Amino acid sequence: MDKIKVAVIGCGTIANSAHIPAYMKNPQAEIKYFCDIDLQKAEKAVAHYGCGTAIADYRELLKDPEIEAVSICTPNLGHASIAIDCLRAGKNVLCEKPAARTYAEALEMQKAQHETGKVLNIGVVNRFNTGVNIIKKMIENGDLGEVYHVYVSFRSQRSIPGLGGAFTTKAIAGGGALIDWGVHFLDIVMYCTGDPRPKTVSGQAYSKLGRDMKNYAYLDMWAGPPNYDGVYDVDDFVTGMIRTEGPSITLNGAWAQNIGVNEMYIDFLGDKAGIRLQYGADFKLYSAQNGALLETTPKFNMGNMFENEIDAFLSCIRTGEKLPSHIDTVILSSQIIQAIYDSSESGTEIRLNP
Ligand SMILES: NC(=O)c1ccc[n+]([C@@H]2O[C@H](COP(=O)([O-])OP(=O)(O)OC[C@H]3O[C@@H](n4cnc5c(N)ncnc54)[C@H](O)[C@@H]3O)[C@@H](O)[C@H]2O)c1
Repeated sequence: MDKIKVAVIGCGTIANSAHIPAYMKNPQAEIKYFCDIDLQKAEKAVAHYGCGTAIADYRELLKDPEIEAVSICTPNLGHASIAIDCLRAGKNVLCEKPAARTYAEALEMQKAQHETGKVLNIGVVNRFNTGVNIIKKMIENGDLGEVYHVYVSFRSQRSIPGLGGAFTTKAIAGGGALIDWGVHFLDIVMYCTGDPRPKTVSGQAYSKLGRDMKNYAYLDMWAGPPNYDGVYDVDDFVTGMIRTEGPSITLNGAWAQNIGVNEMYIDFLGDKAGIRLQYGADFKLYSAQNGALLETTPKFNMGNMFENEIDAFLSCIRTGEKLPSHIDTVILSSQIIQAIYDSSESGTEIRLNP
């Protein structure tokens, strides 16, 4: 069968650490274009991976009928407009998370997917994580009994990315800790508990520690050095409470907090057993039997979730299978995130899907 010709739009961190290596490893795929508005980055990719053509404007690749698959790895600002243009040009799309800056934009993307019938998957990569899938199966099998609540904590002491850059500028990113980190955590909860429809959402988001940029103390800064002339107008702490048709969910997230702990976990509370998933790692199962409390750490091969994600994307283009990362599913967490921000702004609880 002919190889699937691929274009990667945005040749920055996630493209080079995950998407491109996964395409290079898949014998079904051939990367034909590396696209970046910073042409040097696209040229560097061509030289490094030894294939493809470097371009600066993604509209060029839209005209190439050979291109079947596109990865969108740009900052969030570009997700909706580029995905919609690609879909309307007949391309299948894997767009990095979050789907978009706002729920309204995500709905526009979903509409374009429905109208074109092309694939639109979102990079909610944990849906391709082995451990997460084991937890999902355990919950489905009833191993935890009724999962009545899920508690989520994604908190770091000082981990604001690229202060003053794309990640901390609302007009580009759409938000901060919640939309950037929270999206992964919320997505895992939704996936494992069967993507329950949200009913009510209450939340509060704060932009505190990064605001005085010059006096923000930190040890490391991922996503680039600070740009003190840039913008900082996103949340660095968020708290939320969501009622769904399934379990209730509470979350606390911080890119930065004046507390010296870094913790990234999800607690699934069932009436028979509970699970603590350490984000990106393994999980512990807690239960009771014969009057004794049990604690188990299941062992399994983690694999590479990004490779699984890209392999599944390429394969679904041929088979037509609807993946769990399809926009139709991910739209729910996009709705929840928007509702947390809306609740924070209005100071009220938001009622969804009445
Ligand atoms: N799935 C994950 O775990 C994960 C991890 C990191 C980042 N991400 C997501 O990936 C996206 C990119 O993040 P990153 O850390 O790689 O950022 P980055 O800044 O390292 O890379 C983004 C690249 O896109 C380019 N770009 C910007 N606008 C463009 C356009 N219109 N056309 C072509 N290129 C354009 C930039 O020049 C840059 O090289 C973000 O949406 C982020 O949320 C996901």
